[in-house]
Amino acid sequence: MRDFNEKTITDAVIQRFADAPDPRIKQVCASLVRHLHDFVRDVRPSYEEWEYAIDFLTRTGKICNGSRQEFILLSDTLGVSMLVDAVNNPVDGKVTQSTVLGPFFVDDAPKFEAGADIAGKMRGMPAYVSGSVFSQDGSPLVGALVDVWHSDDDGFYDVQQLEKLGGNAGRGQFKTDEKGAFCFWTIKPTFYPVPTDGPVGEMLKAQGRHPWRPAHLHFLIRAPGHRKLVTHIFDRADRYLDSDAVFGVKEELVRDFIDHPPGIAPDGSKRDSAYATIQYDFVMAKQG
Ligand code: BEZ
Ligand code: FE
Repeated sequence: MRDFNEKTITDAVIQRFADAPDPRIKQVCASLVRHLHDFVRDVRPSYEEWEYAIDFLTRTGKICNGSRQEFILLSDTLGVSMLVDAVNNPVDGKVTQSTVLGPFFVDDAPKFEAGADIAGKMRGMPAYVSGSVFSQDGSPLVGALVDVWHSDDDGFYDVQQLEKLGGNAGRGQFKTDEKGAFCFWTIKPTFYPVPTDGPVGEMLKAQGRHPWRPAHLHFLIRAPGHRKLVTHIFDRADRYLDSDAVFGVKEELVRDFIDHPPGIAPDGSKRDSAYATIQYDFVMAKQG
């Protein structure tokens, strides 16, 4: 076959892999070609525009390294990460909703005992975080592994300033107790921008968008027999809840940081300065 035109080329390309041995590969490639070709027929890019697109993707790849993944950021800021999350975790009203993992999770976070202070050298308003982890049948999950990480009150994660902080801070791993509970001290996080010094920053600017994420605490919770839960708790007072740069906010995940004057904190400790508290109970889905 030859002499393809704007109308006939799509089916010709799809026909070329009609014998692909893996039916899923065949399905995915056919859909990709169909949508890409429709995109070109819709947008009708000039040669210059197409070259710009190729260059944009090339630069997106080149800026990636062991600690920076611009393609994930591109997926996040185009809402694709949350769409993949939505098709894999349909909301059923019983289990805690998930949201983006983000680029700042580390696999081997420091382990802490209940009630520890994980702030390290991060400065900010002290915050006492407490919660429990339940299975969807209501039973407490004992010994669940709770990873938490968050930004400081300048909007930076420890991994972005390891030298200044002398190691991890605002990050830790806990095990839930016999009631499924966990608690720790840290500092109150603030809103922060996704990285804007690469192609994604260029895209956000061209789209007339801001790069901010509302203040949040990240959680990754693992328990035997249950699906891994990747989620956040968002600060209800944040100004960016309705315009999160990565579309990750869900109403159910929004909670109050409650401010308290100096005095006796919920864990019985005496606090000489004002502090905040926040509480969340997580419900995990059983492995299907
Ligand atoms: C984060 O919450 O850490 C994050 C998520 C997506 C993109 C950038 C940062
Ligand atoms: Fe974050």
